[in-house]
Amino acid sequence: MAHIIDGKAFAANLRVDIAKSVALLKNKHGVKPGLAVVLVGEDPASQVYVRNKGKQTIEAGMESFEFKLPDTATQEELLKIVDQLNNDPKVNGILVQLPLPAQINETAVINAINPDKDVDGFHLINVGRLNTGAPGLVPCTPLGCRMLLEDYLGDLTGANAVIVGRSNIVGKPMAALLLAKSCTVTITHSRTKDLQEVCKQADILVAAVGRPEMITGDWIKLGATVIDVGINRIAGENGKTKLVGDVEFSSASEVAGAITPVPGGVGPMTIACLLRNTVEATCLQNGISAGEVL
Ligand code: GUN
Repeated sequence: MAHIIDGKAFAANLRVDIAKSVALLKNKHGVKPGLAVVLVGEDPASQVYVRNKGKQTIEAGMESFEFKLPDTATQEELLKIVDQLNNDPKVNGILVQLPLPAQINETAVINAINPDKDVDGFHLINVGRLNTGAPGLVPCTPLGCRMLLEDYLGDLTGANAVIVGRSNIVGKPMAALLLAKSCTVTITHSRTKDLQEVCKQADILVAAVGRPEMITGDWIKLGATVIDVGINRIAGENGKTKLVGDVEFSSASEVAGAITPVPGGVGPMTIACLLRNTVEATCLQNGISAGEVL
């Protein structure tokens, strides 16, 4: 039976450390980090995320700003808010919750955010920084995955890492982050040939495809470390729904050396890393070395 990587506990500890960093920033430098979150429309999952972000931001001792727009909002209206936040010195981090309604061009909005306030790490400048090894803000979910991997495995050098999924939010930045730690990285996707066989070679397998329980135990090398980024709601027993990952936990945990559960694995790491990025952005904007605080 695999070791279960407790992302929930790790994230809780990380938030305690971040609260200490925030206190240090206030006491020593007189700055209070502020995070602005913009939500357009009423997608229920997005509403839950935004509520949790606001709550945890305040618990860490930071300032939380929330902006809610109707799902009929125009791109111009959203860009105006982004511009105001870019120019507001109390706002150190800006997050526009995705997905956005169809009439709004997501890329245009993301690239309108000041890259030094882009705590999602989605701006082209930050994508470029990550892929060239320059310092910058890094996407929260893959950053959380790497923290869990390094905590459990230590040095990742030379590990064969296979990532299932090529999204800009998880798959691609995950590859860049693992490459930076000298893993041998393969990104796979729906068109990959012999996907199961490729996965079976992995020392580290990261699943981020959004297909419930697609990866089963017979896709996994004995003793591999499995990181499940999927959060899928499926029909459960008695007409209820339940959350499952992209990995079938029951069979995978028989073969893997370690595995993240869903829920309680990668999920809680995303917001913790968002808070961390907000502290980092605050340091950057105030000429403070992040290493001194974090
Ligand atoms: N929607 C789902 N995950 C994310 C995320 O990490 N950032 C943003 N901005 N929107 C999301």
